[in-house]
Amino acid sequence: MKKRLVIGNWKMYIESPEEAKKLASALKRKAASYAGVEVWLAPSFTLLPILKGTKLGGQSVSAHAGGAHTGDVSAKMLKAAGATFAIVGHSERRAAGDSDEAVHAQLAAAAGAGLAPVLCVGELVREASGAHFSFIEAQLMSALRGAQSLTARLVVAYEPVWAIGKTAQDAMQPAEVEETVIFIRKTLAQILGRKEALRVPILYGGSVEPDNAPKLVADGGVNGFLVGHASVEVDSFIEILKACRK
Ligand code: 13P
Repeated sequence: MKKRLVIGNWKMYIESPEEAKKLASALKRKAASYAGVEVWLAPSFTLLPILKGTKLGGQSVSAHAGGAHTGDVSAKMLKAAGATFAIVGHSERRAAGDSDEAVHAQLAAAAGAGLAPVLCVGELVREASGAHFSFIEAQLMSALRGAQSLTARLVVAYEPVWAIGKTAQDAMQPAEVEETVIFIRKTLAQILGRKEALRVPILYGGSVEPDNAPKLVADGGVNGFLVGHASVEVDSFIEILKACRK
């Protein structure tokens, strides 16, 4: 993998077109300071059409290809609004009711429509027994089952749920991230084959901030980050992007 990839998940933090444009243009103005880092943004659906010129994606995507699904946004609709990727299986969507089965169907719908699926996996709690490994393995197996042919542009984001929305001090330590990333890559090799698994970018998400980004990228074995709250603070996000330069 040549470039590191950092995805900004704006969640519902940015609600107006004015704020969105201001943030996106501030990032563009400073692009020279993080040259060589690939940056994707996942704003709310409503903001996608106004943010041209940046690699954009949906924070979720419908499992359905159209029809009577009130409130859903299909992969085709995302593409028409300018998206090139879609996040699937984010823990906040899983908490809102998306089952493993739904995540699998969403991934297939996204990939089938030519969007790069960004599959989120991660345990709710970390126990000394190591039960988190089988939890993550089951999430990967379920989401990618039978979807081998659709995963050409797959990205996996490891987001331990307990580490989301906190501060750098509470986030996961680089050594634990590294151990889990190795485990995810091994599991991907079982599902997709070794060659394919080596090609998949594995990102870490969960309280990535300027304070922990340099160590996480140096010692965590990751190919980049999926950033939440710090992605809507220009200076913080730029510092994280800078940490990802090679
Ligand atoms: P925070 O960076 O706010 O912890 O959010 C992580 C996340 O959920 C990104 O998808």
